[in-house]
Amino acid sequence: MTSLADQDIATMGGRLSVLTRQKLDHMLLEELLQQLDAAAVGAGQDLVLHRIARLVFPHAFAEEAVLWPEIRRVLPDGEALTLQVEREHQEVNELWVALETTTPTSPGRREVLERLVEVLRNDVRDEEDELLPRLQDAVSIRRLRQLGAAWEAVRRTAPTRPHPVVARRPPGNALAAVPLTVIDRSRDGLDAVARRSPSLYPHAARASTGLGAVAGHVERLGVLRRGEHAATRRG
Ligand SMILES: [Fe+2]
Ligand SMILES: [Fe+2]
Repeated sequence: MTSLADQDIATMGGRLSVLTRQKLDHMLLEELLQQLDAAAVGAGQDLVLHRIARLVFPHAFAEEAVLWPEIRRVLPDGEALTLQVEREHQEVNELWVALETTTPTSPGRREVLERLVEVLRNDVRDEEDELLPRLQDAVSIRRLRQLGAAWEAVRRTAPTRPHPVVARRPPGNALAAVPLTVIDRSRDGLDAVARRSPSLYPHAARASTGLGAVAGHVERLGVLRRGEHAATRRG
């Protein structure tokens, strides 16, 4: 078993393999985390955080929907392995929600940000050093490419914001995908309008906040918690 950190594209199964796709996203995340470290508190930091959210939430959602169920199917200890990363994902969701309730000068914000960065880096290490090499040893290259296509398809159409209340496992997370993706991506559009056009800012910001409230109601639907493991149940 070799960490993805020590493998090249050919050994990971080529560009279409889920391993290569994962590693590329993880490298981009590390770049963004370094930008976050250097960004000025305020608008600069917010912009980098927005980019991190757009990368991290669809990436993790597609892992939970496509990859971890496969690992539970093919590895005898898949349950324990995937539960560990699902707990990390749950903590990222909860930290992000906590972060959204702060302002740049709020006490405690720095600690939340530091923990968020730490958990994101731990998650990458757990996946690259253990989960994904174990998957690689258990399935064919053809299967790694099939999983790559499935993971990519879900990632492109997944929610882009934290949703700590929905299940981290199917079927709850799969049922959550459509309504929460529509709401999240509409909010991303409204927020972009608000950033670009000061005259439209109050209307766009109000509409985005309203959609956020709708998402809050949607994610509390009991059906979206189906499949949830007790270890990732919120509060
Ligand atoms: Fe990942
Ligand atoms: Fe992850």
